[in-house]
Amino acid sequence: MSKLFEPLEIGKLKIANRFVRSATYYALSDQDGFISDGSVELMKTLAGGDIGLIITGYAFVIKHGQVFPDMNGIDQDDHIAAYQKMTGAVHAQNGKIVMQIAHGGSISTHAAQGNGDYVAVSLTDATPDYGRKPRVLTDDDIQTIIEAFGQAARRVQESGFDGVQIHGAHGYLVSEFLSPTTNQRQDKWGGSLENRTRFLVEVIRSIKRNVADDFPVLIKFGCQDYLEDGSGFTIEEGKQVAQTIEKEGVSLIEISHGRIEKTFRKRGLKITAPENEAYMLEAAKAIRSAVSIPLCLVGGMRSIPVIENILNEGIVDMVSLCRPFIREPELVKRLKKGEKAEVDCISCWGCINPDKEGKNHVFCRQLHKKKTE
Ligand SMILES: Cc1cc2nc3c(=O)[nH]c(=O)nc-3n(C[C@H](O)[C@H](O)[C@H](O)COP(=O)(O)O)c2cc1C
Repeated sequence: MSKLFEPLEIGKLKIANRFVRSATYYALSDQDGFISDGSVELMKTLAGGDIGLIITGYAFVIKHGQVFPDMNGIDQDDHIAAYQKMTGAVHAQNGKIVMQIAHGGSISTHAAQGNGDYVAVSLTDATPDYGRKPRVLTDDDIQTIIEAFGQAARRVQESGFDGVQIHGAHGYLVSEFLSPTTNQRQDKWGGSLENRTRFLVEVIRSIKRNVADDFPVLIKFGCQDYLEDGSGFTIEEGKQVAQTIEKEGVSLIEISHGRIEKTFRKRGLKITAPENEAYMLEAAKAIRSAVSIPLCLVGGMRSIPVIENILNEGIVDMVSLCRPFIREPELVKRLKKGEKAEVDCISCWGCINPDKEGKNHVFCRQLHKKKTE
């Protein structure tokens, strides 16, 4: 049997196969982050499609970390009842589900566009321009956010999820602290790598204080910035931070990127040949050389032979896909049958489709085009 369909145990988390649905924002919540029945249905469908582990779209832990007006929230206990419906629906299909929790930092566009407080690690040339400058976080603010991550994780456990994943990638707050491009603080939260990592360490500890000892804590880790001039958070630093993450008791690292620029974005576009797949594989090899906890890789995996090689070589233990599951939620079921060894997604990034009012909708634009032709 292909390794892809072998089970995996991560502590008490028993996963049926090596496929992960990477966290995917679906624009299905209300402006306070309350999820809709549509979100529950979506998770039910994904679980019915035999994905080993589903990770929810990111949920903000505190209001000024809200990136979109319709993203999930986990900033108050009132959210728990709706999430219990979601976990119940997934477990009824024998699926496993982990919630991703996040703070958007200075790329919290919703907050930036006039919806309340807007914060950043520090003001730098890289601070995005939404026509409004963010406020630099004070020491008290940082402590509040650390506590908010802990409280959010407690709610995640009370909601019945199988684990919690910290969003530590893509330039959001954890990543913003790690990268010297965005973190130019002069205090204990900036400067040396140890100082830039302090926020992440405190977030992990806060989460651990608030959940059961055996509750799986995962991270999506931007282990490297891909900036054109080579500046930013380097893979050598990423390896050291991965070792710290392992020491702090995290169960699984999902390898992704930190800040990126256009040249890197192109790597994720139109992956039409096997050599364009798994565009962060070199970073995964580097992290594999540094830690021994289970690893997962995201980014452009599109065909079974490529994925099997990555697993057979022992670089990572699981593979994570996002866009292919937007197009085809029952993809794993189909691959299991062995009819075809590729996904149909053409990686065009057309899945986030803003309408005339600027509201986002997430669906496969290519598939939609085909249906309406
Ligand atoms: C519509 C959409 C929503 C996404 N939402 C999230 C998210 O909530 N959290 C996250 O960590 N990454 C998010 N991502 C990034 C994906 O999880 C993934 O890292 C990226 O798309 C690369 O994987 P892929 O090539 O399999 O699509 C999103 C991507 C897309 C296209």
